[in-house]
Amino acid sequence: MAASGIALVELDERGVDKAFRADVLEGLSQWPKAIPARWLYDDAGSQLFEDITALPEYYPTRSERQILEHRQADFARLIGPGRAVVEFGSGSSVKTPLLLGAIDPAAYVPLDIAGDFLRAAARDLSAKFPGLPVYPVEADFMKPVTLPDEVEDLPKLGFFPGSTIGNMVARTAVDLLRSMRQTLGESSMLLIGMDLIKDPQVLIAAYDDAQGVTAEFNLNLARRVNRELKGTIPVDKLRHVARWNDTFARIEMHLEAQEDIAFEISGRAFAMEKGETIHTENSHKFDRRSQYTLLLAGGWTPEERWLDSEGRFSLVLASATRPRNAP
Ligand code: AVI
Repeated sequence: MAASGIALVELDERGVDKAFRADVLEGLSQWPKAIPARWLYDDAGSQLFEDITALPEYYPTRSERQILEHRQADFARLIGPGRAVVEFGSGSSVKTPLLLGAIDPAAYVPLDIAGDFLRAAARDLSAKFPGLPVYPVEADFMKPVTLPDEVEDLPKLGFFPGSTIGNMVARTAVDLLRSMRQTLGESSMLLIGMDLIKDPQVLIAAYDDAQGVTAEFNLNLARRVNRELKGTIPVDKLRHVARWNDTFARIEMHLEAQEDIAFEISGRAFAMEKGETIHTENSHKFDRRSQYTLLLAGGWTPEERWLDSEGRFSLVLASATRPRNAP
């Protein structure tokens, strides 16, 4: 149950997540086939993603950490003390101490849809920062969220690390940025991680690693469909593919049929021809112009931008745009 008392997941009489089934049945009925990336993250998928972040080829987590470690004085100067830090999709909050230690905040509000995880992470963080009030909120951060009364009068800093914004198409990303602005209010700021366009070979290696962990992460989605939706997808006939789409500046993950296959899901029949794919994730990459355009479209004015020492990843600090006449 969410803080608002609204159930975040709606189950049918057999305990199946209704939204998952609807997304899978609809996504596999269209052409090209696609399943929204959020379904990659069941317990097994979340663990596999944690494993990905430690892979030698997957640079984003290390690069972002390096920026957070090296730019503490800049954060203190540009963000200052006394803000309520609201972390969107806080998960295990591993990068958070680096930010909180730099800016002397007045409160911390981790916001996540996974309640148990959220409360455990909030407890860990309280132990690290004993004087800091922590108010976990169980909510879907894709929509505007009512923050706890205790932080109502404090200026806010939104924190959205990891380049999760890159997993959304532009329209969804802009909706989210606007909704964050609504949640955080007038004089708020946002510190957001955004991965950068680079040599496609480096990108493909990061999303198709030598140990096959990312392949497992992707294939786990087909296994999840079989487990939860009475599916008969022959998972051993699918292979993980990571492609660079230069037009949209994104890495795409697909599950490709290695031969003609037929299967059922929740009593519905599907078929794939050899070479046909199910598109399972986009991971958009940015340059300065594209990230500034996105932020401005979402109601945020970029103030500062930091890169890691290899220029692979960026953190952008933005402030809530004040409405004014413009040409
Ligand atoms: C969560 N997200 C930012 C990751 C990314 O890099 O797009 C998800 C991921 N997919 C494959 N590897 C990592």
